[in-house]
Amino acid sequence: MSPNQATSSTNSSNSSNSSNSSKHLLSKRVYVSLDTTARSKGSDLIADQVSRQLKLQPELAATLVRNGSRGMFWLEPLLEVETPQGRVAYGPVKPADVSEILNAQAFNDVTNHPLCLGLTEQIPWLKEQQRLTFARVGVIDPIDVADYQANGGFVGLQQALEKSPQQIVDQVKTSGLRGRGGAAFPTGIKWQTVLDEVPQQKYIVCNADEGDSGTFADRMLMEGDPFVLIEGMIIAGLAVGANQGYIYLRSEYPQAHKILNQAIANAQAAGFVGDNICGHDFNFNLEVRLGAGAYICGEETSLLESLEGKRGLVRAKPPLPAIEGLFGRPTIVNNVISLASVPYILSYGGEAYRDYGIGRSRGTLPIQLAGNVAQGGLVELAFGISLKELIARYGKGTKTKRPMRSIQVGGPLGAYLPQHQWDTPLDYEAFSAIGAVLGHGGIVIFDDSVDMAAQARFAMEFCVAESCGKCTPCRIGSTRGVEVIDKLLAADDEQRPAHLELLNDLCDTMEFGSLCAMGGMTPFPVRSALKFFPSDFSLTDSQPAEQQPSSTEAP
Ligand SMILES: Cc1cc2nc3c(=O)[nH]c(=O)nc-3n(C[C@H](O)[C@H](O)[C@H](O)COP(=O)(O)O)c2cc1C
Ligand code: SF4
Repeated sequence: MSPNQATSSTNSSNSSNSSNSSKHLLSKRVYVSLDTTARSKGSDLIADQVSRQLKLQPELAATLVRNGSRGMFWLEPLLEVETPQGRVAYGPVKPADVSEILNAQAFNDVTNHPLCLGLTEQIPWLKEQQRLTFARVGVIDPIDVADYQANGGFVGLQQALEKSPQQIVDQVKTSGLRGRGGAAFPTGIKWQTVLDEVPQQKYIVCNADEGDSGTFADRMLMEGDPFVLIEGMIIAGLAVGANQGYIYLRSEYPQAHKILNQAIANAQAAGFVGDNICGHDFNFNLEVRLGAGAYICGEETSLLESLEGKRGLVRAKPPLPAIEGLFGRPTIVNNVISLASVPYILSYGGEAYRDYGIGRSRGTLPIQLAGNVAQGGLVELAFGISLKELIARYGKGTKTKRPMRSIQVGGPLGAYLPQHQWDTPLDYEAFSAIGAVLGHGGIVIFDDSVDMAAQARFAMEFCVAESCGKCTPCRIGSTRGVEVIDKLLAADDEQRPAHLELLNDLCDTMEFGSLCAMGGMTPFPVRSALKFFPSDFSLTDSQPAEQQPSSTEAP
């Protein structure tokens, strides 16, 4: 089935939300995910098979729902069946298994089936998480407003509608929420800056460009629970006096695009988007705009240029986007997960969110386990768990069963961490202290077959391809960086120190002279590879440590 067909079948099964909801009360539900990863593993075939079987056996009296993914990607395609005890999961399912599962289910013979995983909510991998932002992902029908509301949706908005803008901003400040897009800037302070600007046209912009390697939390959330993002954006609009929102979505996410558009239309039909929201004197409109595949368009000022219809070139700051953002007006630019965390904060209060986490890293982090990992997927946990424990408990080591050698955290500009740093807790400050970043929570695992010199070269190459070209250290520096690494790798013992010195100088120039973090952070993966994996560059253990300054601060 093509992506279009899959979505249209999703939409048609949800075209009338209210009648759908009453149908849900009358019939059992069978769930098969429409998440992009689940579909890549064959969930559309399973959904087709379920539809066929339910037609063949009307006595099963069940309805197919295409939900988001629970994030257990090694178990996709996952099939869940409603029972009086709760939802029972089976996976990974093949089309040939469907009839047997549905019939076993009809006779309540659940536990005997070899693919049965028991009650979904009791699967330890899922049960032990702290899902605040992802609470409904994989649980509800993503575009059914009634299902969203039946699971606590729009309660945060109702609370916000009863508060003053300052009270809303104060709740976000109390929560300690920091931007999940990478820079970890306090969200409440950003909102306060926009609120404090004189009343005028203001904007809420959601950064859904999600370009970091190994990250998919934004996509999963938009495909599995788009209303929580929509609700977060409406609350942001109420908080700062903005009546227009834009979701800047990467074009590589066609499924998220369709689901978001359908969800916005359904929210509008239900009176949550548009004029006089919930009968209050407040209007908020929302549109999705597609990017065109440039990593740098995830950088907030470049994103704003792109939204204005221009080439995605980074703007110098100041002025901050909060003061002069989209079309020169005060603008909140927040990541998908930052905005989607807000409804929980307004529903349960800032303190409830702040109670999770450690130090200045409050709340939860949706962590994405990717690369060479046995159990890849999405884990939402309070900040503070160590990388080692996280991978042992949830990732279960490498997929190849070879020893882990290196872990890259925080996307393509993040440092490569060697074994002795795997005890570091997931906490913005702890990561900064070791010269690393948490970024968007993407974790990419490598086994002992990785060539770290090739990875360092790739970091420079990535910057060559993705630099916006505005400043020299990044535009020229990354091209020279690839050349110098090539020379270093080809050098003999005598020539090597000179090339190493030059590479270090170049890294300094990029780190301290670049206009934005693209050029400024590209040295992070390069330097960590040199420092902790010197043998891959034919360097001795002591050589690089003596010769390189250790870079720690993000620009
Ligand atoms: C090169 C580069 C790429 C970025 N890509 C993204 C991205 O894809 N998504 C995102 O939310 N933030 C990205 N950021 C961070 C944004 O500039 C900005 O900090 C963020 O959108 C602010 O939202 P937050 O405070 O909610 O994190 C990127 C930054 C840089 C320097
Ligand atoms: S560092 Fe690179 S991406 Fe950033 S402004 Fe300079 S050239 Fe553009």
